Formats: sequence, structure tokens, C-alpha cells
Amino acid sequence: MNMPLAIEHAVEWQTGVKAVRCLGIVDETPDVKTFSFGLKGDESLEFKPGQFLNMTFTIGSQDVQRCYSIASSPNRPRQFAITVKRVPDGKVSNWLHDSFGVGHEVRIGLATGHFNCVDIEADKYLLLSGGSGITPGMSMVRWMLESGQQRDLHFIHSARSPVDIIFHDELLSIDRQWPGFQLSLLCEHKSSARGWGGFRGRLSADLLQAICPDFLERRVFCCGPAPYMQAVRRVLEALDYPMDRYVEESFGGAPLTPGSASPVPGEATVSTQVNFARMGTQGCGNFSQSLLDTALNSGVWIQSACRTGICGSCKVLKLEGSVSMDAALALSEAEVSGGYVLACCAYPQGDVTLDL
Ligand code: FES
Repeated sequence: MNMPLAIEHAVEWQTGVKAVRCLGIVDETPDVKTFSFGLKGDESLEFKPGQFLNMTFTIGSQDVQRCYSIASSPNRPRQFAITVKRVPDGKVSNWLHDSFGVGHEVRIGLATGHFNCVDIEADKYLLLSGGSGITPGMSMVRWMLESGQQRDLHFIHSARSPVDIIFHDELLSIDRQWPGFQLSLLCEHKSSARGWGGFRGRLSADLLQAICPDFLERRVFCCGPAPYMQAVRRVLEALDYPMDRYVEESFGGAPLTPGSASPVPGEATVSTQVNFARMGTQGCGNFSQSLLDTALNSGVWIQSACRTGICGSCKVLKLEGSVSMDAALALSEAEVSGGYVLACCAYPQGDVTLDL
């Protein structure tokens, strides 16, 4: 059956959901665990090293979505692993750490993301990661090592203390067997549980120049908490690094539930009406409130895993009206011209009708 490209993509996205079963759980650090999953039957998961998955967890009677970077190598497509840090008050991370077990199931969508070393190739890489932001870089390193594509790669990872270094022993082992691999570990604090003779403190311009003098020749991939990535950007900009060779991965605020979106405070607003065509209902929005927030405030559920325009889970077809969009990384050109918008970063410019 022939269908417009945009619709074909949308159907593919909606039908890409698979149930996967947990095969194993490993304690990495005091507050980080790795969860390995297996696909069912003859299914497999195609992804590029560094990409993330949109995952749906059924917690009680509620489906909750989160995006997690895949930590494993794509060389074994019938299995994959995510590595999750327990976040204070984090609904999913605490549930995974405390209540999830081997044999339990979750649902996954398609893997996606521009932060990968297949689409963005280079002869020399500099991976910068902070805390649990190590996971996409680890997928790249594991893939390069396993597939014999051992390029010139310097991995600088920052952690709170030596006991918080995720994949510490594996990284030391890779450092011994891969001639072009350089590992630099930075810890903010010492710890009594594991001795430390490595770098202390945070990444600074002086430290970067000292431990990676050829950083200007390297393609930089950076992943970590927002303050970490902000600090890295400041360091690189101060050193005149060409930022068009800089790639970062981040995810924004937690997904919301219907009725829980907050209005944007302190901004002049112009009221708009957002119509949900299939439901036959309307919501009251404004120029500075995303379509996602308007929908949630109106009791209309839209999936939203990242809220930063990266994952594509909030993709929705706009039938009428115009919007401004902050970002459209998760949409193909065909989808944009077919009328799809990302509800999390689309703002109405007047009355809008959505295919919901
Ligand atoms: S929620 Fe991820 S793109 Fe909108």
C-alpha cells in the first residue's frame, strides 16, 4: 500500500514498540545499576552506538516514559543494556532500583538520536562525560573495540569520587588493550573505599590542555548533567574550540501527566485555542505555552519522554493553524512538510487543530 512518506514514518514510529524482558541486573556503583534486556522471538534492536531508546514502564496502573541511552554495543542486536542512576524523587529510577527484577518486562520504541559515532564520524574523538552521562560514550567505545574500529579516542570522564566511576574496571581493561585509547579519570573527592592517584577536581581549561593537548583536532562528544555540559562548553569556547565540531546529549525535565503542566510565569500571553479534532475537545493555550503543556492541562495525553525535541515521542499531526518550533531534530524533512510537529517545543501562533 502506498502512503505519503510522512504518514509512513508515523506508522513505523507507532508500530515500533516492542516488549523486552530483563535478563540481568548489575550493581555498578552505590547508586547506579545496569539492566540488561533481551528481545523476544526473532526480534532484534537496531541502533547506532550512542543512541537512546524511548522506554515505557508500567508502574502501578500508570505508564511512564523515559529516554535512556543504550550502554551496550549494537553488535549484539538481540540484547541491550541501560545503566541507570538513582535520582532523588525519580519515579522511574527508584522503581527500577527497588522494584524491578529479572524476568520483568518493559516496552521500547525505536532507537534514535544524532549523538552517535556512525552518523558523525571522525579520525580522532574526545569523549567527555560526567556521572551517568558515560553511557552513550561507553556504547561507542564497546562497539569500536568489538568491531575492530579502534580509532584514536581520548575518554575523559568526571565522577564525584573513585567509587562513583561507572564501568571503572572495564575502562581500565580497555585502556590496556587498545593502543589508540587514552583514559583520563577525574574525581572531585577522594573516597576511603577506593584509593585514588588520578586527577582531582573538575575539568578546566588548564587541565584539558594538559591531559589532551591535541583536543583542537578531535571531534568532541559530551554527555552529562546540564551544569557539567555548560561548564564544558565554557571551557571549549574559552580555548577557541570550533563548536561546530561539538556534539552533546541531554534530556530535559521529567515528563508530565495530564493536568500537571505549569503555566509559564511572568510572560505576556496571547490566548489561543488548541482543538483536539478526534476527541472533539479544546484547550486554552497561549503563545508561550507549548502544545504539549496545553494538551496536558486540558487532560489530553501526549507521550513525552525528553521534552527537548530529541526523542520524537510527542510527534503529532497538525491539521490547521501555525506554530513556531524551537527544535525539530526528531522530525524528518518529509514529516515537517507533511504537517507533523513536536508538541513539546511547538508554540501556537494562533488557533491550532491537532489530529488527536
Ligand atoms: S518529548 Fe521528546 S521530542 Fe517531544
